[in-house]
Amino acid sequence: MNILILGSGGREHAIAHKISLSPKTEKLFAAPGNAGTANIATNVEVGVNDFEGIKALVLKENIDLVVVGPEDPLVKGIHDFFLNDVELNNIPVIGPQKAAAELEGSKEFAKEFMMRHDIPTAAYQSFTSDNLEEGYDFLETLNPPYVLKADGLAAGKGVLILQDLEEAKSELKAMLIDSKFGEASATVVIEEFLDGIELSCFVLTDGSNYKILPTAKDYKRIGEGDTGLNTGGMGAISPVPFADEILMRKIERQIVKPTVEGLKKDNLPYVGFIFIGLIKVGDEPKVIEYNVRMGDPETEVVIPRLKSDLLEVLVAMSKGTLDQINLEIDERAATTVMAVSGGYPEAYEKGKQISGIEAIDDSFVFHAGTKIKDGNVVTNGGRVIAITSFGNDFKEALQKSYQNIEKLHFDGMYYRKDLGFDL
Ligand code: AMP
Ligand code: GLY
Repeated sequence: MNILILGSGGREHAIAHKISLSPKTEKLFAAPGNAGTANIATNVEVGVNDFEGIKALVLKENIDLVVVGPEDPLVKGIHDFFLNDVELNNIPVIGPQKAAAELEGSKEFAKEFMMRHDIPTAAYQSFTSDNLEEGYDFLETLNPPYVLKADGLAAGKGVLILQDLEEAKSELKAMLIDSKFGEASATVVIEEFLDGIELSCFVLTDGSNYKILPTAKDYKRIGEGDTGLNTGGMGAISPVPFADEILMRKIERQIVKPTVEGLKKDNLPYVGFIFIGLIKVGDEPKVIEYNVRMGDPETEVVIPRLKSDLLEVLVAMSKGTLDQINLEIDERAATTVMAVSGGYPEAYEKGKQISGIEAIDDSFVFHAGTKIKDGNVVTNGGRVIAITSFGNDFKEALQKSYQNIEKLHFDGMYYRKDLGFDL
Protein backbone atom coordinates (compact mmCIF):
# COMPACT_ATOMS: atom_id res chain seq x y z
CA MET A 1 0.00 0.00 0.00
CA ASN A 2 1.01 3.62 -0.53
CA ILE A 3 0.50 5.75 2.54
CA LEU A 4 0.46 9.53 3.05
CA ILE A 5 1.01 11.06 6.48
CA LEU A 6 0.05 14.70 6.97
CA GLY A 7 2.10 16.75 9.41
CA SER A 8 5.68 17.62 10.31
CA GLY A 9 6.20 16.91 14.01
CA GLY A 10 7.59 14.21 16.25
CA ARG A 11 4.16 12.60 16.26
CA GLU A 12 4.22 12.21 12.48
CA HIS A 13 7.81 10.89 12.49
CA ALA A 14 6.87 8.28 15.12
CA ILE A 15 3.77 7.21 13.16
CA ALA A 16 5.72 7.14 9.88
CA HIS A 17 8.46 5.07 11.49
CA LYS A 18 5.97 2.47 12.71
CA ILE A 19 4.15 2.33 9.37
CA SER A 20 7.49 1.99 7.54
CA LEU A 21 8.04 -1.28 9.44
CA SER A 22 4.88 -2.88 8.04
CA PRO A 23 5.44 -5.44 5.28
CA LYS A 24 2.30 -4.05 3.63
CA THR A 25 3.87 -0.62 3.15
CA GLU A 26 5.14 -0.02 -0.36
CA LYS A 27 5.62 3.73 -0.63
CA LEU A 28 5.41 6.17 2.24
CA PHE A 29 4.97 9.94 1.86
CA ALA A 30 4.97 12.74 4.40
CA ALA A 31 3.55 16.20 3.70
CA PRO A 32 5.35 18.33 4.57
CA GLY A 33 7.39 16.03 6.89
CA ASN A 34 10.76 16.87 8.46
CA ALA A 35 14.40 15.75 8.29
CA GLY A 36 13.46 12.58 10.19
CA THR A 37 10.62 11.48 7.93
CA ALA A 38 12.94 12.19 4.96
CA ASN A 39 14.97 9.12 6.00
CA ILE A 40 12.03 6.72 5.78
CA ALA A 41 9.54 8.44 3.47
CA THR A 42 9.37 10.87 0.58
CA ASN A 43 8.70 14.38 1.88
CA VAL A 44 6.46 16.52 -0.32
CA GLU A 45 6.23 20.29 0.14
CA VAL A 46 2.46 20.45 0.58
CA GLY A 47 0.88 22.05 3.66
CA VAL A 48 -1.60 20.16 5.85
CA ASN A 49 -4.38 22.66 5.06
CA ASP A 50 -3.73 22.76 1.31
CA PHE A 51 -6.55 20.36 0.41
CA GLU A 52 -6.18 20.82 -3.36
CA GLY A 53 -2.43 20.22 -3.10
CA ILE A 54 -3.09 17.09 -1.05
CA LYS A 55 -5.61 15.88 -3.63
CA ALA A 56 -3.07 16.28 -6.44
CA LEU A 57 -0.46 14.39 -4.43
CA VAL A 58 -2.86 11.55 -3.53
CA LEU A 59 -3.87 11.06 -7.17
CA LYS A 60 -0.34 11.37 -8.55
CA GLU A 61 1.18 8.86 -6.12
CA ASN A 62 -1.76 6.43 -6.00
CA ILE A 63 -2.15 6.84 -2.25
CA ASP A 64 -4.28 4.10 -0.62
CA LEU A 65 -4.59 5.57 2.89
CA VAL A 66 -4.17 9.04 4.41
CA VAL A 67 -3.22 9.48 8.07
CA VAL A 68 -3.90 12.96 9.44
CA GLY A 69 -1.49 13.97 12.23
CA PRO A 70 -2.62 17.41 13.51
CA GLU A 71 -6.10 18.71 14.41
CA ASP A 72 -6.21 21.72 12.12
CA PRO A 73 -7.05 19.97 8.82
CA LEU A 74 -9.57 17.75 10.65
CA VAL A 75 -11.39 20.72 12.17
CA LYS A 76 -11.29 22.35 8.71
CA GLY A 77 -12.90 19.24 7.23
CA ILE A 78 -10.26 17.33 5.30
CA HIS A 79 -12.11 14.05 5.79
CA ASP A 80 -15.32 15.59 4.39
CA PHE A 81 -13.30 17.04 1.49
CA PHE A 82 -12.27 13.48 0.53
CA LEU A 83 -15.81 12.09 0.93
CA ASN A 84 -17.28 14.85 -1.22
CA ASP A 85 -14.80 14.41 -4.08
CA VAL A 86 -15.59 11.72 -6.67
CA GLU A 87 -11.90 11.06 -7.28
CA LEU A 88 -11.06 10.74 -3.58
CA ASN A 89 -14.10 9.28 -1.87
CA ASN A 90 -12.86 5.68 -1.96
CA ILE A 91 -9.55 6.59 -0.29
CA PRO A 92 -9.73 6.10 3.49
CA VAL A 93 -8.74 8.96 5.78
CA ILE A 94 -7.72 8.29 9.38
CA GLY A 95 -9.18 11.16 11.39
CA PRO A 96 -12.77 12.17 12.12
CA GLN A 97 -15.07 14.19 9.90
CA LYS A 98 -15.55 17.89 10.63
CA ALA A 99 -18.66 17.46 12.78
CA ALA A 100 -16.93 15.11 15.23
CA ALA A 101 -13.67 17.10 15.10
CA GLU A 102 -15.64 19.79 16.96
CA LEU A 103 -14.85 17.75 20.09
CA GLU A 104 -11.48 19.50 19.87
CA GLY A 105 -12.54 22.49 17.75
CA SER A 106 -15.06 23.77 20.31
CA LYS A 107 -14.79 23.40 24.08
CA GLU A 108 -18.49 24.23 24.39
CA PHE A 109 -19.41 21.46 21.94
CA ALA A 110 -17.23 19.02 23.91
CA LYS A 111 -18.85 20.02 27.22
CA GLU A 112 -22.36 19.65 25.79
CA PHE A 113 -21.39 16.23 24.40
CA MET A 114 -20.16 15.12 27.82
CA MET A 115 -23.30 16.40 29.55
CA ARG A 116 -25.51 14.60 27.03
CA HIS A 117 -23.72 11.29 27.58
CA ASP A 118 -23.10 11.52 31.32
CA ILE A 119 -19.34 11.62 30.98
CA PRO A 120 -17.64 12.96 34.13
CA THR A 121 -16.09 16.41 33.67
CA ALA A 122 -15.82 19.75 35.48
CA ALA A 123 -19.03 21.77 35.97
CA TYR A 124 -19.14 24.72 33.59
CA GLN A 125 -21.08 27.52 31.92
CA SER A 126 -20.31 29.28 28.68
CA PHE A 127 -20.53 32.97 27.86
CA THR A 128 -20.34 35.38 24.91
CA SER A 129 -20.08 39.18 24.71
CA ASP A 130 -23.90 39.24 25.03
CA ASN A 131 -23.85 37.97 28.61
CA LEU A 132 -20.53 39.21 30.01
CA GLU A 133 -22.26 40.43 33.20
CA GLU A 134 -23.62 36.94 33.83
CA GLY A 135 -20.08 35.66 33.37
CA TYR A 136 -18.93 37.99 36.16
CA ASP A 137 -21.79 36.76 38.36
CA PHE A 138 -20.89 33.13 37.66
CA LEU A 139 -17.24 33.78 38.59
CA GLU A 140 -18.42 35.19 41.91
CA THR A 141 -20.14 31.90 42.74
CA LEU A 142 -16.89 29.94 42.24
CA ASN A 143 -13.88 29.48 44.47
CA PRO A 144 -10.42 30.21 43.08
CA PRO A 145 -8.56 29.20 41.03
CA TYR A 146 -10.74 30.24 38.09
CA VAL A 147 -10.50 28.31 34.81
CA LEU A 148 -11.28 30.28 31.63
CA LYS A 149 -11.17 28.52 28.27
CA ALA A 150 -11.41 30.04 24.81
CA ASP A 151 -13.99 27.94 22.97
CA GLY A 152 -12.03 27.52 19.73
CA LEU A 153 -8.55 26.40 18.69
CA ALA A 154 -5.94 28.75 20.15
CA ALA A 155 -2.72 26.79 19.53
CA GLY A 156 -2.75 25.39 23.07
CA LYS A 157 -2.77 28.88 24.63
CA GLY A 158 -6.49 29.40 25.17
CA VAL A 159 -6.76 28.16 28.78
CA LEU A 160 -6.17 30.57 31.66
CA ILE A 161 -6.03 29.51 35.30
CA LEU A 162 -6.23 32.51 37.62
CA GLN A 163 -6.09 32.91 41.38
CA ASP A 164 -7.64 36.35 41.64
CA LEU A 165 -11.34 37.12 41.04
CA GLU A 166 -10.72 40.61 39.64
CA GLU A 167 -8.06 39.28 37.30
CA ALA A 168 -10.44 36.52 36.19
CA LYS A 169 -13.10 39.13 35.40
CA SER A 170 -10.72 41.32 33.43
CA GLU A 171 -9.38 38.31 31.48
CA LEU A 172 -12.95 37.24 30.71
CA LYS A 173 -13.57 40.70 29.31
CA ALA A 174 -10.29 40.63 27.35
CA MET A 175 -11.31 37.32 25.78
CA LEU A 176 -14.93 38.20 24.99
CA ILE A 177 -14.74 41.91 24.20
CA ASP A 178 -11.12 42.53 23.13
CA SER A 179 -10.77 39.22 21.23
CA LYS A 180 -7.69 38.19 23.20
CA PHE A 181 -7.57 34.89 21.26
CA GLY A 182 -9.30 36.24 18.16
CA GLU A 183 -12.41 34.39 16.97
CA ALA A 184 -11.45 31.48 19.29
CA SER A 185 -12.47 33.46 22.38
CA ALA A 186 -15.79 34.81 21.04
CA THR A 187 -17.23 32.18 23.37
CA VAL A 188 -15.57 31.37 26.71
CA VAL A 189 -16.18 28.31 28.88
CA ILE A 190 -15.74 28.94 32.60
CA GLU A 191 -15.07 25.74 34.51
CA GLU A 192 -14.84 24.41 38.01
CA PHE A 193 -11.15 23.88 38.90
CA LEU A 194 -10.25 20.22 39.30
CA ASP A 195 -7.44 19.41 41.67
CA GLY A 196 -5.62 16.21 40.86
CA ILE A 197 -3.00 14.50 38.74
CA GLU A 198 -3.26 14.41 34.96
CA LEU A 199 -2.91 11.56 32.51
CA SER A 200 -3.90 10.89 28.93
CA CYS A 201 -5.76 7.98 27.44
CA PHE A 202 -5.58 7.21 23.71
CA VAL A 203 -8.34 5.38 21.92
CA LEU A 204 -8.60 3.99 18.40
CA THR A 205 -12.07 3.73 16.94
CA ASP A 206 -13.73 2.73 13.69
CA GLY A 207 -16.93 4.44 14.82
CA SER A 208 -18.38 1.37 16.54
CA ASN A 209 -15.53 -0.63 18.01
CA TYR A 210 -12.67 0.77 20.03
CA LYS A 211 -9.27 -0.25 21.37
CA ILE A 212 -7.43 1.50 24.17
CA LEU A 213 -3.76 2.27 23.56
CA PRO A 214 -1.24 2.63 26.40
CA THR A 215 -1.68 5.62 28.73
CA ALA A 216 0.85 8.44 28.84
CA LYS A 217 1.66 11.50 30.85
CA ASP A 218 3.27 14.54 29.32
CA TYR A 219 5.17 17.41 30.87
CA LYS A 220 3.73 20.64 29.50
CA ARG A 221 5.63 23.37 31.35
CA ILE A 222 8.96 24.69 30.12
CA GLY A 223 10.58 24.79 33.56
CA GLU A 224 11.67 22.11 36.00
CA GLY A 225 9.22 21.29 38.75
CA ASP A 226 6.37 22.10 36.31
CA THR A 227 7.00 25.84 36.37
CA GLY A 228 6.92 28.56 33.72
CA LEU A 229 5.03 28.79 30.47
CA ASN A 230 3.04 26.02 28.83
CA THR A 231 4.64 24.32 25.83
CA GLY A 232 3.43 21.70 23.38
CA GLY A 233 5.08 19.15 25.67
CA MET A 234 8.64 18.69 26.94
CA GLY A 235 8.58 14.93 27.30
CA ALA A 236 6.36 11.98 28.15
CA ILE A 237 6.19 8.70 29.99
CA SER A 238 4.19 5.55 29.22
CA PRO A 239 2.59 3.75 30.97
CA VAL A 240 1.44 6.13 33.70
CA PRO A 241 2.49 4.38 36.92
CA PHE A 242 -0.64 5.36 38.88
CA ALA A 243 -3.03 4.21 36.12
CA ASP A 244 -3.71 0.84 37.73
CA GLU A 245 -6.32 -1.68 36.65
CA ILE A 246 -9.04 -0.18 38.84
CA LEU A 247 -8.55 3.32 37.42
CA MET A 248 -8.35 1.95 33.86
CA ARG A 249 -11.61 0.07 34.34
CA LYS A 250 -13.30 3.27 35.51
CA ILE A 251 -11.85 5.19 32.57
CA GLU A 252 -13.13 2.59 30.13
CA ARG A 253 -16.59 2.22 31.68
CA GLN A 254 -17.31 5.85 32.57
CA ILE A 255 -15.48 7.64 29.77
CA VAL A 256 -14.25 5.63 26.76
CA LYS A 257 -17.35 3.51 26.20
CA PRO A 258 -19.86 6.35 26.57
CA THR A 259 -17.69 8.51 24.31
CA VAL A 260 -17.68 6.01 21.44
CA GLU A 261 -21.36 5.17 21.98
CA GLY A 262 -22.18 8.89 22.22
CA LEU A 263 -20.51 9.58 18.88
CA LYS A 264 -22.64 6.88 17.33
CA LYS A 265 -25.87 8.07 18.97
CA ASP A 266 -25.21 11.64 17.88
CA ASN A 267 -24.50 10.45 14.34
CA LEU A 268 -20.93 11.74 14.38
CA PRO A 269 -18.88 9.40 12.17
CA TYR A 270 -15.44 8.84 13.65
CA VAL A 271 -12.57 6.82 12.25
CA GLY A 272 -9.43 7.82 14.03
CA PHE A 273 -7.63 8.50 17.26
CA ILE A 274 -9.34 10.00 20.32
CA PHE A 275 -6.97 11.58 22.82
CA ILE A 276 -8.73 12.03 26.15
CA GLY A 277 -7.04 14.40 28.59
CA LEU A 278 -7.96 13.22 32.08
CA ILE A 279 -7.47 14.31 35.63
CA LYS A 280 -7.70 11.92 38.56
CA VAL A 281 -9.53 13.69 41.36
CA GLY A 282 -9.35 11.49 44.44
CA ASP A 283 -9.97 8.10 42.86
CA GLU A 284 -12.23 9.37 40.09
CA PRO A 285 -11.22 10.14 36.50
CA LYS A 286 -12.71 13.24 34.87
CA VAL A 287 -12.30 14.56 31.35
CA ILE A 288 -10.39 17.83 30.91
CA GLU A 289 -10.47 17.83 27.15
CA TYR A 290 -10.85 15.80 24.00
CA ASN A 291 -8.40 15.96 21.13
CA VAL A 292 -9.22 14.34 17.81
CA ARG A 293 -5.66 13.21 17.09
CA MET A 294 -2.72 11.70 18.88
CA GLY A 295 -0.73 13.79 21.36
CA ASP A 296 2.73 15.10 20.72
CA PRO A 297 5.07 14.03 22.42
CA GLU A 298 2.79 11.27 23.79
CA THR A 299 2.82 9.50 20.40
CA GLU A 300 6.59 9.17 20.71
CA VAL A 301 6.10 6.87 23.73
CA VAL A 302 2.73 5.27 22.95
CA ILE A 303 3.34 4.14 19.35
CA PRO A 304 6.77 2.54 19.99
CA ARG A 305 5.06 0.35 22.63
CA LEU A 306 2.64 -0.99 20.03
CA LYS A 307 3.93 -4.37 18.85
CA SER A 308 1.10 -4.93 16.36
CA ASP A 309 1.42 -3.82 12.75
CA LEU A 310 0.09 -0.23 12.87
CA LEU A 311 -0.84 -0.25 9.20
CA GLU A 312 -3.00 -3.34 9.69
CA VAL A 313 -4.69 -1.62 12.62
CA LEU A 314 -5.37 1.54 10.59
CA VAL A 315 -6.78 -0.49 7.70
CA ALA A 316 -9.09 -2.32 10.12
CA MET A 317 -10.25 1.06 11.47
CA SER A 318 -11.05 2.25 7.97
CA LYS A 319 -13.03 -0.94 7.24
CA GLY A 320 -14.95 -1.03 10.51
CA THR A 321 -13.29 -4.27 11.59
CA LEU A 322 -11.29 -3.05 14.56
CA ASP A 323 -12.98 -5.73 16.69
CA GLN A 324 -10.97 -8.34 14.79
CA ILE A 325 -7.65 -6.80 15.83
CA ASN A 326 -5.72 -7.91 18.86
CA LEU A 327 -3.46 -5.08 20.02
CA GLU A 328 -0.13 -6.33 21.27
CA ILE A 329 1.63 -3.97 23.65
CA ASP A 330 5.26 -3.98 24.80
CA GLU A 331 5.24 -4.36 28.58
CA ARG A 332 8.32 -2.20 28.99
CA ALA A 333 8.13 1.47 29.90
CA ALA A 334 8.92 4.12 27.31
CA THR A 335 10.02 7.69 27.91
CA THR A 336 10.76 10.58 25.61
CA VAL A 337 12.71 13.76 26.32
CA MET A 338 12.29 16.74 24.01
CA ALA A 339 15.21 18.96 23.03
CA VAL A 340 13.89 22.46 22.31
CA SER A 341 15.22 25.72 20.87
CA GLY A 342 16.52 28.41 23.25
CA GLY A 343 13.71 30.87 24.02
CA TYR A 344 10.87 28.43 23.28
CA PRO A 345 7.88 28.67 23.89
CA GLU A 346 8.43 32.37 23.25
CA ALA A 347 10.51 33.72 20.33
CA TYR A 348 13.39 31.49 19.20
CA GLU A 349 15.72 31.25 16.22
CA LYS A 350 15.65 28.56 13.57
CA GLY A 351 18.29 27.16 11.24
CA LYS A 352 20.79 26.03 13.91
CA GLN A 353 22.92 23.11 12.81
CA ILE A 354 22.25 19.90 14.77
CA SER A 355 25.10 17.51 15.53
CA GLY A 356 25.44 14.24 17.41
CA ILE A 357 22.40 12.41 16.02
CA GLU A 358 24.51 9.54 14.69
CA ALA A 359 26.11 9.00 18.14
CA ILE A 360 22.76 8.09 19.69
CA ASP A 361 22.37 4.39 20.29
CA ASP A 362 19.67 2.24 21.79
CA SER A 363 17.13 5.08 21.65
CA PHE A 364 14.78 6.31 18.93
CA VAL A 365 15.46 9.75 17.50
CA PHE A 366 12.16 11.32 16.52
CA HIS A 367 12.53 14.58 14.68
CA ALA A 368 10.01 17.30 15.58
CA GLY A 369 11.15 20.70 14.24
CA THR A 370 13.97 19.88 11.82
CA LYS A 371 14.70 20.22 8.15
CA ILE A 372 17.53 19.54 5.76
CA LYS A 373 19.41 22.60 4.53
CA ASP A 374 22.45 22.30 2.25
CA GLY A 375 22.81 18.65 3.27
CA ASN A 376 22.75 19.38 7.02
CA VAL A 377 20.01 18.78 9.58
CA VAL A 378 19.03 22.13 11.09
CA THR A 379 16.44 23.28 13.62
CA ASN A 380 13.11 24.36 12.18
CA GLY A 381 10.80 24.74 15.18
CA GLY A 382 10.52 25.21 18.94
CA ARG A 383 10.47 21.53 19.73
CA VAL A 384 13.36 20.01 17.77
CA ILE A 385 14.07 16.34 18.56
CA ALA A 386 12.54 13.77 20.92
CA ILE A 387 14.71 10.97 22.28
CA THR A 388 12.63 7.89 23.13
CA SER A 389 13.94 4.93 25.13
CA PHE A 390 12.65 1.71 26.63
CA GLY A 391 13.38 0.44 30.13
CA ASN A 392 12.03 -2.01 32.67
CA ASP A 393 10.53 1.00 34.41
CA PHE A 394 10.30 4.68 33.54
CA LYS A 395 13.38 5.52 35.59
CA GLU A 396 15.56 3.14 33.62
CA ALA A 397 14.07 4.38 30.34
CA LEU A 398 14.63 8.02 31.34
CA GLN A 399 18.24 7.34 32.21
CA LYS A 400 18.83 6.08 28.68
CA SER A 401 17.02 9.05 27.11
CA TYR A 402 19.13 11.45 29.18
CA GLN A 403 22.40 9.67 28.36
CA ASN A 404 21.60 9.94 24.68
CA ILE A 405 20.23 13.48 24.61
CA GLU A 406 23.56 14.68 26.03
CA LYS A 407 25.17 13.61 22.76
CA LEU A 408 22.97 16.02 20.80
CA HIS A 409 24.03 19.58 20.19
CA PHE A 410 22.67 22.75 18.65
CA ASP A 411 22.99 26.40 19.64
CA GLY A 412 20.62 27.22 22.49
CA MET A 413 19.45 23.62 23.01
CA TYR A 414 17.46 23.08 26.22
CA TYR A 415 15.64 20.13 27.79
CA ARG A 416 14.04 19.39 31.13
CA LYS A 417 16.20 17.20 33.35
CA ASP A 418 13.48 16.37 35.89
CA LEU A 419 10.87 14.35 34.00
CA GLY A 420 9.09 11.88 36.26
CA PHE A 421 9.88 14.00 39.34
CA ASP A 422 6.22 13.90 40.42
CA LEU A 423 5.69 10.15 40.12
P1 AMP B 1 -6.79 22.09 27.97
O1 AMP B 1 -6.31 22.93 26.82
O2 AMP B 1 -8.25 22.02 28.12
O3 AMP B 1 -6.10 20.76 28.00
O4 AMP B 1 -6.21 22.78 29.27
C1 AMP B 1 -4.83 23.00 29.44
C2 AMP B 1 -4.41 22.62 30.81
O5 AMP B 1 -5.13 23.41 31.77
C3 AMP B 1 -4.73 21.19 31.19
O6 AMP B 1 -3.76 20.29 30.76
C4 AMP B 1 -4.81 21.28 32.69
O7 AMP B 1 -3.51 21.26 33.25
C5 AMP B 1 -5.39 22.64 32.93
N1 AMP B 1 -6.84 22.57 33.13
C6 AMP B 1 -7.80 22.64 32.19
N2 AMP B 1 -9.03 22.55 32.72
C7 AMP B 1 -8.85 22.42 34.04
C8 AMP B 1 -9.75 22.30 35.16
N3 AMP B 1 -11.08 22.31 35.02
N4 AMP B 1 -9.20 22.17 36.37
C9 AMP B 1 -7.86 22.18 36.55
N5 AMP B 1 -6.98 22.31 35.56
C10 AMP B 1 -7.45 22.43 34.32
N1 GLY C 1 1.01 17.05 24.35
C1 GLY C 1 -0.27 17.62 24.30
C2 GLY C 1 -0.90 17.66 22.98
O1 GLY C 1 -0.48 17.04 22.03
O2 GLY C 1 -1.93 18.32 22.86
